[in-house]
Amino acid sequence: IQKRLDRIKMNVKSFPDFPKSGIIFRDIFPLFHDPSLIDDVLYILKHHIKNNIKNYDTIIGLESRGFLIGPLLAYELRVPFVPIRKAGKLPGKVESIAYELEYGSDKFEIQIDSVKPNSNCIIVDDLLATGGSARSAVELIRKCGSNIVNVIVLIELIDLKGRLQYPEPTFSLVKF
Ligand code: PRP
Ligand code: HPA
Repeated sequence: IQKRLDRIKMNVKSFPDFPKSGIIFRDIFPLFHDPSLIDDVLYILKHHIKNNIKNYDTIIGLESRGFLIGPLLAYELRVPFVPIRKAGKLPGKVESIAYELEYGSDKFEIQIDSVKPNSNCIIVDDLLATGGSARSAVELIRKCGSNIVNVIVLIELIDLKGRLQYPEPTFSLVKF
């Protein structure tokens, strides 16, 4: 596992001063240039879930980069994938919540009928920064009458202490 983690970390690319001065942008797309790195990511995530999460039945992905890993993981685990999207993109009845980002603000929505009440959800995203997105996703899922059993991210920016924004446990592959 350590070898796989090292390979993953080596392939996350850092861009200083993007999209704004003072931000070091961690880019996960290089991982997708090599399918064997995606094997590594899925191997570790499945290992983590198998050993640490007893009851889960739904994977929730956050737009947009949470849609890269979320569906792959849900497919492998044979559980439903449900998207949380930015406002105005999901048809039908939605539940919404406003949230702050590391560099801006936005609004998240989920289709009310897409999660069964009392589901045990795992939230998946590419990166945890301030934790604003994850916290809103947690609140949105609770509004739908479901539980969050874990938040999973590929990258955690530890100085920003995002995981303290919500009570549920966080698992991150790589920490910067
Ligand atoms: C980024 C990232 C996370 C979030 C993390 O998404 O993919 O979802 O910010 O930041 P936070 O912990 O401070 O909330 P962004 O909103 O930039 O959207 P994108 O994935 O569509 O590019
Ligand atoms: N990298 C990628 N996405 C992000 C970041 C970052 O540093 N901060 C917030 N979203």
